[in-house]
Amino acid sequence: MKRRLIHTNSFVEDAVNIITDAARDAIETNGIFRIGLCGGNTPKPVYSLLAKSREPIDWNKVLVTFGDERCVPPDDAQSNYRMANEAFLSHVPIPAENVHRIQGELEPEKAASDYEHVLLESAGRFSEPRYVHDLLLLGMGDDGHTASLFPETAALEETDRNVVANFVPKFDTHRITMTFPLINAARHVCFLVNDPAKESIVEKVLSGMSDYPAARVHPESGELTWLLSF
Ligand code: 6PG
Repeated sequence: MKRRLIHTNSFVEDAVNIITDAARDAIETNGIFRIGLCGGNTPKPVYSLLAKSREPIDWNKVLVTFGDERCVPPDDAQSNYRMANEAFLSHVPIPAENVHRIQGELEPEKAASDYEHVLLESAGRFSEPRYVHDLLLLGMGDDGHTASLFPETAALEETDRNVVANFVPKFDTHRITMTFPLINAARHVCFLVNDPAKESIVEKVLSGMSDYPAARVHPESGELTWLLSF
């Protein structure tokens, strides 16, 4: 695994450049760009600027997945899909069938198993045992969680499935989340962290001396980037 730390004063612009560079390379190499989007607040301005990017991206060749989703309908204020759709997806001509939304409105186990099927079926079209993201965006919480892989939750121990329904005691609710096997199968994972209050957690994660969930992201044969605004 190749790891890259980028400390930047132009966080949003640099994040968009990472995405458009990855898109150009993937489409040139494989004729398709498979990106995984993260939720939360950090990526929203990145998605908005990406939608306005003058970089010529053939959106017909872009496939979108989501690293996690809250167990809410797609029009709920808490929905990661809604955030990404309002900021980005509704502004670019990605074919609807290329956007694989996690159906947070379903019963959690059903939502997870349906998404597992979508990813396995898509991976099969590429003759892959497991879906391979060209670029997977991740955020990190102030407890070191990423996607919806929260400390001391069952999903941390998943070694086979790509997607699970994970009960999160701190919220007393389920989240649907990608698992470490799927995350670590990516060609390139990029953490986007722009909150200085998370600096100490980032340092502990990068030190390798922690068992924070984010520390368990290491794409075996891929690249890991940390884009940090501090
Ligand atoms: C979510 C995200 C989650 C997020 C972190 C950071 O559904 O909330 O997937 O993993 O990336 O909690 O969130 P902020 O960007 O809002 O700090």
